[in-house]
Amino acid sequence: MKSRICEMLNIEYPIFQGAMAWIANASLAAAVSEAGGLGIIAGGTAPVELIREEVRKAKKMTSKPFGVNIMLLSNNANEIAKMVCEEGVKVVTTGAGTPSKYMDMWKAHDIKVIPVVPSVAIAKRMVRCGADAVIAEGTEAGGHVGELTTMVLVPQIVDAVDVPVIAAGGIADGRQVAAAFMLGAEGVQVGTRFLTAFECTIHENYKKKVLNAKDIDTVVTGRRTGHPVRVIKNKLSRKFFELDESLASKEEYEKLGSGALARAVFDGDMEYGSIMAGQVAAMVNKEQSCKEIIKEMMEDASKLLNKDWN
Ligand SMILES: Cc1cc2nc3c(=O)[nH]c(=O)nc-3n(C[C@H](O)[C@H](O)[C@H](O)COP(=O)(O)O)c2cc1C
Repeated sequence: MKSRICEMLNIEYPIFQGAMAWIANASLAAAVSEAGGLGIIAGGTAPVELIREEVRKAKKMTSKPFGVNIMLLSNNANEIAKMVCEEGVKVVTTGAGTPSKYMDMWKAHDIKVIPVVPSVAIAKRMVRCGADAVIAEGTEAGGHVGELTTMVLVPQIVDAVDVPVIAAGGIADGRQVAAAFMLGAEGVQVGTRFLTAFECTIHENYKKKVLNAKDIDTVVTGRRTGHPVRVIKNKLSRKFFELDESLASKEEYEKLGSGALARAVFDGDMEYGSIMAGQVAAMVNKEQSCKEIIKEMMEDASKLLNKDWN
């Protein structure tokens, strides 16, 4: 039994690898797609030519479909929106804003558009502007987050829209995949668990932080400025809370946060780098290939759901 999302995207398993800025490159995305899931290359704030290069590399590494994520408020959004058409990318996921102005262009190129949404109202708005599916992301997730939990958000969005709903946030094993399906989701998006995949090229220090994380090790910084981000606690997150207490200016937050994710990803700076990860980091205890991760999650979920995915 396949979900609608497998048929729509021509993938074997309903598992998306969540976009992760500066992290989700061709190596990770192609490995996930090769393993039967949907790999997604993150646009983040990177120059368009760098993302185009990753797309071209991924095309050499896999003939299976993969996606590109566009952060709509980033300066690179317009250029990446055009690049995905030029490169024949089949799936676009979007965050932070509305993709309506690109919809006609993407539809003309037969691109499936799947926005990440934190609320029922935004999910409905995205469907009105032509989304093919939505990713309902709960606040357990790593990176930029909304307020609602996956458990509460997913069934409400399932009830509110007709398109397939993909659940994201706090999903790292088969029990959580099965739970998401019980809530009405037709797919899951996984970020944190893929951070420790062999094919994920982040610094070893970052991987170790995820592997050693405990249940209460993540916090959300940036609530005061309206940019909440879930990270593993370190000196940087403590500094952000100090800025909250001293009612610091927007500029001070920007100065502290500028380049912080890249510092963790490339330099392995675990003190002043931003170690974005979800609450579920506590359940990620081993390094595996993307194929092993997907196989394990789907086999365990299939047993619980009494479904055969093949
Ligand atoms: C390090 C990191 C970076 C992320 N960057 C992005 C991003 O650039 N765009 C986006 O839409 N989501 C981003 N996310 C969210 C993921 O795509 C995914 O929805 C989320 O990780 C799922 O929850 P989980 O972390 O509990 O698995 C990021 C998550 C992490 C952990």
